[in-house]
Amino acid sequence: MQLSQIPVQTPTPFYYYNLELLKKTVQAAKSESAPYGYRVHYAVKANANPVLLRLISQQGLGADCVSGNEIRQALECGFPADTIVYAGVGKSDAEIELALQHDIFCFNCESLPEIQVIDGIAARLGKKARIALRINPNVDAHTHHYITTGIEENKFGIYLYDLEHVITEVAKLKQIELIGLHFHIGSQITDMTVFRGLCIRANEIQRQMKERGLFLPHINFGGGLGIDYNEPYEKPIADFQSYFATFARFFEPEPHQQIHFELGRSIVAHCGDLISKVLYVKEGKNRKFVILDAGMNDLLRPALYQAFHKIENISSDRPEEKYDVVGPICESADCFGKDVVLNETRRGDLIAIHSCGAYGEAMASRYNLRDLPGSVFQYPK
Ligand code: LLP
Repeated sequence: MQLSQIPVQTPTPFYYYNLELLKKTVQAAKSESAPYGYRVHYAVKANANPVLLRLISQQGLGADCVSGNEIRQALECGFPADTIVYAGVGKSDAEIELALQHDIFCFNCESLPEIQVIDGIAARLGKKARIALRINPNVDAHTHHYITTGIEENKFGIYLYDLEHVITEVAKLKQIELIGLHFHIGSQITDMTVFRGLCIRANEIQRQMKERGLFLPHINFGGGLGIDYNEPYEKPIADFQSYFATFARFFEPEPHQQIHFELGRSIVAHCGDLISKVLYVKEGKNRKFVILDAGMNDLLRPALYQAFHKIENISSDRPEEKYDVVGPICESADCFGKDVVLNETRRGDLIAIHSCGAYGEAMASRYNLRDLPGSVFQYPK
C-alpha cells in the first residue's frame, strides 16, 4: 500500500475501503456462482457500512440479516425485501414483526418455540411467513472454536434428532410456509473438504425428506468461505471458484431447487484496512513496542480470536526491525501482533492493518469511551 493513496489529513484511526476491489470481488462471486444458477446473499453482519452495502446491493446480491436493525439498514441501502433472509437464534417479537411487515423473503429458523412465536405474530398481522429450518448438521468446520457453529454442542440450529418432530409440528401451523433448509457451519473455512462433508450430510437429509414425501424448493448453505490473511496483495479475491464448484460437484439438488449462499468475509475482508498513527515507540525489556492510536475497540479480532492481520508501516522505508504492535486500551489482549517485522518505526508514522473489512468496523465498540473509528473510501476510477 502506498502512503500517497491515503488522505493523511483524516483523523486516525479510520477504516480505509477500496471500493474498486470490493466491486471486483462481488463480480467474481457473481460470475463464479452464475453458471450453477446459485443465489448469493451478502451477510450484512460482516460489515454494515452503508457505502459498502449500497455498492453490494447495486451489484445485485441479496442480503442476509441477523437483526431488525440489519434488515432496516439493508432496505435503506437498496436491497429489495424479497432478497432478504433473516437468521438468528434469538429473534425478538419486534424484529419478527418488522420482518413480516416488510415481507422479507425468508426467516431462517433455529427452534420450534421460535417458529411458534412467528406463527402467532403472523396471525395477528394477517401474514404468512416463509421459513427455512436451520439445521445443525453436526459437521465440524475445524476452524476457531468461537466461529464453529455446526456441531451439536453449539446453540445453533435444529438438531438432527429433533428434525422429524419439528417438521410434524410445523405442518400444524397455519401462518407458516416451510420453503427450505438452511445450514451454516462456521466461518474462515479454507479447506473445501469441510464443505464436501456438508454436501454429503445435506444429501442424506434430502433423501429422508423425500422418503417422507416432502419437497423443499430452497436450500441455503450459509457462508463460511475463508480468505488468505497472509497474502492480501497476492490473493486479494477469495477462491469462489473452488467453493461453488465443491457444492456443484457434491450436492445433489432436486429438480427446480434454488440454492442460496450467505457470504460475508469473502466479500468484504480484503477491501478494508485499518489505518492508524504511531503514538509512541517504547523500549521494553528485549522488545520494542509500537503503540498505536487504534486499539482492540477498533479491531477486536486479534484480541478475541488471536487472529492474524498483516501489518505494514506505510510511512517508512528505513531498515526493518521487530516490534510488538499494541493499542492504547487497558488490557494486555490489546495487541495486534508480536514480533512483527516493520520498517523502522517512529512517532507519527502511519500503520496499515490489512484485510479487516470483515468483522472489523462491524465489531468496533466504545470501550474506554473511545470514539468509534471513521471510514474513508477510495472510489472506483
Ligand atoms: N450466515 C450465518 C447464519 C452466519 O452466522 C454467518 C457468520 C454468515 C452467514 C457469514 O459467514 P462468513 O461468510 O462471513 O464466514 N466475528 C468472526 C466471524 C463470525 C461469523 C458469524 N457468522 C470473525 O471475526 O472471524
